[in-house]
Amino acid sequence: MKPMDRAQLVIASNRGPVSFGRDDDGRLVPRRGAGGLVSSLGPLVAGSGATWIAAPMSDADREAAASGRIDVEGFRFHCVDVDPAVYRMAYDVVSNSTLWFLHHHLFDLPRRPRIDRTWRQAWEGYRAYNQAFSRTLADDSPDGAVVLVQDYHLSLVPAQLAELRPDVRVVHFLHTPFCDPTWLRVLPAGAVDELIGGLAGATAVGFHSRRWEDAFLGCCREVLGRQPSTFVSPLAPDPDDLASVAASDACAEEAARLDEAVGDRAVIVRVDRIEPSKNVLRGFQAFDELLRARADLRGRVCFVACVYPSREGLADYVAYHLEVETLARHLNDRWAEPGWTPVILHTTDNFPRSVAALRRYDVLLVNPVRDGLNLVAKEGPVLNTRHGVVALSREAGAWDELRRAAIGLNPFDVTDTAEALAAALDMDAGERSRRSRLLAELASARSPTHWLSDQLVAAGVAA
Ligand code: F6P
Repeated sequence: MKPMDRAQLVIASNRGPVSFGRDDDGRLVPRRGAGGLVSSLGPLVAGSGATWIAAPMSDADREAAASGRIDVEGFRFHCVDVDPAVYRMAYDVVSNSTLWFLHHHLFDLPRRPRIDRTWRQAWEGYRAYNQAFSRTLADDSPDGAVVLVQDYHLSLVPAQLAELRPDVRVVHFLHTPFCDPTWLRVLPAGAVDELIGGLAGATAVGFHSRRWEDAFLGCCREVLGRQPSTFVSPLAPDPDDLASVAASDACAEEAARLDEAVGDRAVIVRVDRIEPSKNVLRGFQAFDELLRARADLRGRVCFVACVYPSREGLADYVAYHLEVETLARHLNDRWAEPGWTPVILHTTDNFPRSVAALRRYDVLLVNPVRDGLNLVAKEGPVLNTRHGVVALSREAGAWDELRRAAIGLNPFDVTDTAEALAAALDMDAGERSRRSRLLAELASARSPTHWLSDQLVAAGVAA
């Protein structure tokens, strides 16, 4: 296998490593983009001469897109030129309201999805958005390029790009779960063919968990009658990046604030986007049930929820955000005592605060209804300083790797979740220490470099 020159590497993702703003003189200036993908892949491509292609998220990004490729942090960045209306159809309607709900099995099926003429127009928008990426990739990819396409927003790119540039190797990596074949039937047949055929156009398709790979292969057998090449490669936290945030003044300030708020009480922590798949509501309901069942814990444990807004352009997300805030308030109304606030809810994005909370937890609650991986479940054990235990949903991809040390829970079962929290809080010091050491070992067994290498190997080149 031939080692690959990183300048031949091309990455495509909806959200890019850079977004643009304006300085005081009105000039466009690049800023580091948000999100787990960027923090994992960004450092790996910095200084490599690779190319990264992403969608514009703002007018400033769109203006920057018009000026073509830009050199930032030692790689070439190119914003795809997409019409804002097409982008909204592709991102809001198809990617986030249809494919996200489909792959996470989130639809309230008697009501959603509503597949009508408007939805069909949106699907055309999704196709056009994917096509815009494919054209840009075809123009920007050097000879012998390996193109790493990230996530469900760009499911049609592999087949489209194979038509335009049969010489490049395309790997598609899905960060979400993949729907079971029965759920796929929710979509119109034409969209199903395009979706599965689009992904199967890749040299290989990657997943964080064997479960999602199996589901995808099941869909391929039904739709295509064949199985494309696939691989499993769970992403891992970047320990250096986490260590530098943990050592920052901002994190120390947040840690001091947290200490003041919780005192010497036991602390349950969650760190999540405010997002229906994350199951924030059942987490609070489980805490409520725990306090009902265990009078001895009242006044002695705090639930610190560092949750932050996501996809606020969508009504479902806004409504969910409101429900989260309302339920947290109800719990505090019901249980608070002078000097004890049972639920400490933070709803702004503050990474140093989340890192401080992950260092401080006695129990980390990660209870998604379904999750491609859940990087927080691995970041927690890498950062934690208190022999904390992880109460983890068996429906998260990270369960595959952490099951030997985490306390498993059924995310749909509030009582089971409350019992998992109780078991974690009651655990004796010896068992906590054994589990937390094993958790840290399992969570740091791989790094983002392994994940990138696996994609290159799947493309048929040596890392
Ligand atoms: O979980 C899939 C994922 O694409 C993550 O990689 C990322 O953090 C998130 O979803 C993207 O969300 P957004 O819609 O805010 O870009």
